[in-house]
Amino acid sequence: MLELKNIRKVYNPGEVTEMCLFDNFNLTVDEGEFVSIVGSNGSGKTSLLNIICGSIPIEGGEILIGGKNIAKMKEHKRYQTIGRVYQNPAVGTCPNLTMLENMSLADNKGKSFGLSFGINKARENFYKDQLSILGLGLEDKMQVKLGALSGGQRQAASLIMSTLTPIEFLILDEHTAALDPKTAEIIMELTGKVVKEKKLTAMMVTHNLRYAVEYGDRLLMMDKGHAVLDKGAEEKKHMQVEDILDVFTSISIECGN
Ligand SMILES: Nc1ncnc2c1ncn2[C@@H]1O[C@H](COP(=O)(O)OP(=O)(O)OP(=O)(O)O)[C@@H](O)[C@H]1O
Ligand SMILES: [Mg+2]
Repeated sequence: MLELKNIRKVYNPGEVTEMCLFDNFNLTVDEGEFVSIVGSNGSGKTSLLNIICGSIPIEGGEILIGGKNIAKMKEHKRYQTIGRVYQNPAVGTCPNLTMLENMSLADNKGKSFGLSFGINKARENFYKDQLSILGLGLEDKMQVKLGALSGGQRQAASLIMSTLTPIEFLILDEHTAALDPKTAEIIMELTGKVVKEKKLTAMMVTHNLRYAVEYGDRLLMMDKGHAVLDKGAEEKKHMQVEDILDVFTSISIECGN
């Protein structure tokens, strides 16, 4: 179980641009839960993920995994149990390294030995098997540098790479936003499959309300650092895109937009 307790996050403290995003923010995510997160630009979705991953500091509160406070744990340590895919396909992979080298790096995440370790024929075949799940022919591009692949191809590879090691959490930040509709659909289906098969706890930020409705067993809507909507599996089953849009609209009306 992941618990965020009384989280306080202030950007630019002490400066004129100081902005308190989270003040006493609380969230509990059960093991194996797949949470879809929506919300307008600047509502705090990426900050929330960054706080969980340790990419940004917090000014107060606790981040508990299995009851243990990891608030002071370094980011790289947290990634031993967290896989993350970003919106930009260029983030999280090395453009100047080949697919094989990138896969090996991801496979050896958190270990101290170098690149050459782990690239044996059996492991290469395992990588190829994993890539072939995508159905994009990436298993035939093991010697191609990732920088030479399209954004969609890189993003697909990133998802596979993020789940090569035995992670518990999968953190996705608009990971289909840069993809064409067909590739986005493939990546979403694969995401659902990977989360289920590997029994991961997943948090997926998306602006695609259809994906938010179709995927995951919980729906969270963020607004100005608050969870303004939190629907569990049963309630979510009956939700439609229009329902989420209605909440969005009511929030903007309240704000006078
Ligand atoms: N590094 C930063 N320094 C100062 N303010 C920041 C920083 N990162 C985010 N913010 C502010 O925090 C708020 C939330 O930003 P965040 O990136 O978490 O939003 P988001 O919900 O992910 O938005 P989007 O949908 O546009 O990705 C915004 O007001 C933003 O300006
Ligand atoms: Mg964001």
